Amino acid sequence: MRDASRSAISIENVQHSYVLRGGKEIIALQNISLDIQAEEFHALLGPSGCGKSTLLYLIGGFIPLQEGSIRTRSGEVTGPGLERGIVFQNFALFPWMTVKQNILYGLRKANFPRKEAEDRAREFIQLVHLTGFEDAFPSQLSGGMQQRAAIARTLAVDPEILLMDEPFGALDAQTRRIMQEELRAIQQRTKKTVVFVTHDVQEAVLLADRITIMSPRPGRISHLIEVGLERQSVEDMLAQPEFTAKSEHIWRLVKDMAESAMRGPA
Ligand SMILES: Nc1ncnc2c1ncn2[C@@H]1O[C@H](COP(=O)(O)OP(=O)(O)OP(=O)(O)O)[C@@H](O)[C@H]1O
Ligand SMILES: [Mg+2]
Repeated sequence: MRDASRSAISIENVQHSYVLRGGKEIIALQNISLDIQAEEFHALLGPSGCGKSTLLYLIGGFIPLQEGSIRTRSGEVTGPGLERGIVFQNFALFPWMTVKQNILYGLRKANFPRKEAEDRAREFIQLVHLTGFEDAFPSQLSGGMQQRAAIARTLAVDPEILLMDEPFGALDAQTRRIMQEELRAIQQRTKKTVVFVTHDVQEAVLLADRITIMSPRPGRISHLIEVGLERQSVEDMLAQPEFTAKSEHIWRLVKDMAESAMRGPA
């Protein structure tokens, strides 16, 4: 049984639609109610266009809520807040700033005093294994390093909640695997609540405690799955028959939905 008092994010009856030029309305999310627990690693999984980013941006307060409510322990979400940090898919570092300047920028914006900001920048650069690259510009780093810098920038301000939109989507398979290991370790060490958007079933099963599977047009929650696997190294997890069985089960659910979405409305 889940304990409601441990809820870190309460999403109730959220609906969201976009109006296209010409007036056509797209219902991106419908009837979304979901409780995410403190310290939970929660994955949002579903085919392209099912509203994963929309839901993440609503939790982040980056787009205004149209219907329903989203609450964190800091209260009702009405806009961005320091308790919610976001990592975008496309390495949103400032290209004209070095790694360290990028991280300091976030800390200064969050009102950390100069000395503490310097210390934290150093600490988080170390945490994501970028020591030695403090003064490198994003263009001088690999994609994986840029993404680690973006994660450090977000983690350094110590948000309770980490929102991640396909953060490893653009990485090669090997870097992706390393980043998955690192993220899981960071989350266990820092006890963040993580909402992680992905369309990669294996990634969701590897990382998440629970997975929300969303169906497209309109985006709804189709399944809420407790992963329930023992946390081990990625290699050991991949070798578990339970891991394969769980991934295949989830893959079938996602595939059925993607196929019915491609067929369009009956
Ligand atoms: N700014 C916008 N204006 C109009 N429609 C939008 C806008 N953003 C998203 N949509 C529509 O809302 C739906 C959900 O989009 P969203 O980006 O949330 O999906 P997603 O699950 O993140 O997809 P992907 O996996 O491709 O990133 C889609 O049908 C999309 O076309
Ligand atoms: Mg998206």
